Amino acid sequence: MRIDIITVSPELIKSPFEHSIIKRGIKKGLVEVHFHNLRDYAVNKYGKIDDTQFGGGAGMVLMIEPIDKCIRKLTSERSYDEIIYMTPDAQVLNQQTANSLSLAENMIILCGHYKGVDQRVRDLLITKEISIGDYVLSGGELGAAVLCDSIIRLIPGVIGDETSALTDSFQDNLLAPPVYTRPAEYEDTKVPDILLSGNFPKIEAWRSEQALERTQQIRPDILKKE
Ligand code: ADE
Repeated sequence: MRIDIITVSPELIKSPFEHSIIKRGIKKGLVEVHFHNLRDYAVNKYGKIDDTQFGGGAGMVLMIEPIDKCIRKLTSERSYDEIIYMTPDAQVLNQQTANSLSLAENMIILCGHYKGVDQRVRDLLITKEISIGDYVLSGGELGAAVLCDSIIRLIPGVIGDETSALTDSFQDNLLAPPVYTRPAEYEDTKVPDILLSGNFPKIEAWRSEQALERTQQIRPDILKKE
């Protein structure tokens, strides 16, 4: 998989790609991530990439020209499955979207900034818009990092234990059951006996029950889906 991230703050977004599971995916050659500074496509020598909005109103808007130039350069080099715009006014990212994007070969992610982008970018250049939640961030960079993490960890070979990503919360519209590790007893607390029983069919049944109970208590809304 190749991911091209277009941003006005490359330094802000690079760090998550230099650690842990994402770094491992990159090191193993399973994913390539390239950062593109929108200012390299500025409309003048002063690095202009934004302007005030027509009709008045506070905040600067990213111009279509630098974004178009950057996307055109990339799409002239290879084809892309998706050109994604990170914005709070979009469908909220969920596990299903992450699963489906993990099958993509190439994708571009455009990070919004300030007041957003000229609507013509969204109408003409973007194939998918994603929000990471119902709150407003200062830019799309942190959202793009969240999106990339959710996708990259699903690429076969990135996580050592293949079953682990599939048993995460949300994979069956259920939250994950509780997990425990050593010691079996700590001060007054004990690990549930069933987990120490060695009876694996019973343990699986207990985990399913716990997952359902947790979901009913904490996120009944996801149980209603599908
Ligand atoms: N940019 C600003 N807020 C955002 C959000 N909630 N999700 C994705 N991109 C954003």
